[in-house]
Formats: sequence, C-alpha cells, structure tokens
Amino acid sequence: MATISQEELDGIYAFAVELGKQAGQMLMDAAQVRIDGGIARSEEKEHVQKENAVDLVTETDENVEAFIKHQIAEKYPQHKFVGEESYSKGASRDYLIDDSPTWCVDPLDGTVNYIHLFPMFCVSIGFIHNNKPLIGVINAPFLKQFFSSCAGRGAFMNETQRLPLIQKPIPAMPKNAPSGCVFSCEWGKDRRDIPDGNLHRKIESFVNMAAELGGRSGRGGMVHGVRSLGSATLDLAYVAMGAFDIWWEGGCWEWDVAAGIAILQEAGGLITTADPPRDEATAPIEDVRLGSRLYLAIRPAGSLGEETGRQGQ
Ligand code: IPD
Repeated sequence: MATISQEELDGIYAFAVELGKQAGQMLMDAAQVRIDGGIARSEEKEHVQKENAVDLVTETDENVEAFIKHQIAEKYPQHKFVGEESYSKGASRDYLIDDSPTWCVDPLDGTVNYIHLFPMFCVSIGFIHNNKPLIGVINAPFLKQFFSSCAGRGAFMNETQRLPLIQKPIPAMPKNAPSGCVFSCEWGKDRRDIPDGNLHRKIESFVNMAAELGGRSGRGGMVHGVRSLGSATLDLAYVAMGAFDIWWEGGCWEWDVAAGIAILQEAGGLITTADPPRDEATAPIEDVRLGSRLYLAIRPAGSLGEETGRQGQ
C-alpha cells in the first residue's frame, strides 16, 4: 500500500488551506453580489434542481468546483478528483473513493442555506488516501470560521485555535438518554414517500427524538437542544469543536463528510457508520470506510472509560 510522507502531506495541507481561502472568498463574493443586487429575493431564477425539488445547484456551486478542480489538476495532476457537481453531471457512478490519493470536494455545502442566505454554508475540501480522510479544510466565509486539519498536525479553527475548543466529558451513550448534550441531525434531501426514506418518518423520528431526549418520558436525561443546520460538513466541524456532542445523518455523500471527518478525527472525535450493504456497523471505528451513507459522529473528550464512570451521577 503506497504511503505519503508527513513532509509531502504538509505540502498538500498548505496548498489545501490556500485553496480553501480562495474558494471561500469566491463564495463570499457571490453571496455579496446576490445581496447587493437583491437577487436573493428572486432566488428561484438562479438555481436548478438535480434529483428533486430540494436537491439544488447554483452557478456558484459549479464555478467554485471548476476553480478548485482546475487548481488541483495543475498542482497534483496525478491525484484523483471527486466533486459533488462533477458527479452530478455524470462522472463515474461506480464506487467513488478507492485507495488512490483523492480530493473530495463539496464546493458549496449548504446550498439551500446559501440560496436563502442562511449563513451556514461553506466550501469543504477533503484529501483522502487509502480511503482515510487525512486533510480537511472547511471555510464558512459568512461566519468567518475556517476549520482545517492535517493528520499528525492537529485540527484548528481559524488556523490558530486548536480543536476541540470546548472540553467536556464525552456524552454517556444509552441506556439512559444523555443529559446536557446538544444533538444535531440533518433532514437530507430524500423526500420519497416510501418506507426507506420518507419525510414523514424522518419528521416523526426527529420530533420523537427531541421529545424523548428532552425528558418527556422521564426516563432519560435532559438534552439541551436538537439542531439541524443544513450543512453536514459544518455539523462535523462543530462536533470537532465540541459545540455539538453528537451528529448523525442518513443519506449523505463522500463530499458531504470527507473534510469534516478528517477534522473530527484529528481533533480526537469519533465517527462511525451503519450502512448494512457494506456491513460497517460492526467495523472498528478507526476502520470506517468512506462510501457509507449513514454516519454518526461523537465529539472529542476524555476517555470512554472515564465517561462510563460518570454515567450514573
Ligand atoms: C447537503 C447538506 C445537508 C445534508 C445533505 C447534503 P449540499 O449538501 O450537507 O445538510 O442534509 O445530505 O447533501 O447539497 O448543500 O452540498
């Protein structure tokens, strides 16, 4: 199995950070044009549907991806590129991530947020090798938050603040619902009214979960809050930060999670999947392979053993 030296990885990281800054500026400029021109008020004119009415793409998604793809091809022509918009336009529908050095990019994660000018949108750039996310860069320009990580070097916010920012004991996992946590989960884009992916079930389970975790049953702890931001990659960054305790989503793609997983793992957080066809539910956490659709992330903390001791208190 080919390896990449730390020195080589450091060079790729420096390049990815610069790329993330430039791409973030492109997002910011495009958003500003929409604000200045009042385009946000007639947003239906400037986005098109992909799979369904909530799976949207804007010119900005496409321009930013084209820019990133070009920059990578110039600098690292031997690396593979997997981007959300290239994929949507019919790039290979085979297994997307293999063991080769691969850039996995969502040029605009939170497209719906961007269209509605809800500030939770960002560019997300992951670098993966041997199916492991090694580098992550997430730039949310409206929030002025820039997350980055390189395997072996740590994870950071705005390049100087080491993640996690918030140190808490890890949430106690059920039997009893955890107290004092903030959960995040996403709705995704699947609106089919079929047993496997229907919106009613999602809403129902979300509401039940919020009520249950919030203490309705009297069984569990009191969860402080349940959130749904509309950007899977930012969710992961906030888990890495320690702001969210747990995040999960069923139905996300490699580009939604690659950079976020790199940052989360480098910060000391955990990621796992439960995707029956690939039988990963039973895989050790460190062996989780990209290509799953359902992920669960737990924020960095002290050791799990330490937590078990606190569970009953
Ligand atoms: C989407 C967002 C959303 C998640 C979807 C993603 P996009 O990405 O991350 O939060 O629920 O699964 O596809 O379309 O905004 O790049």
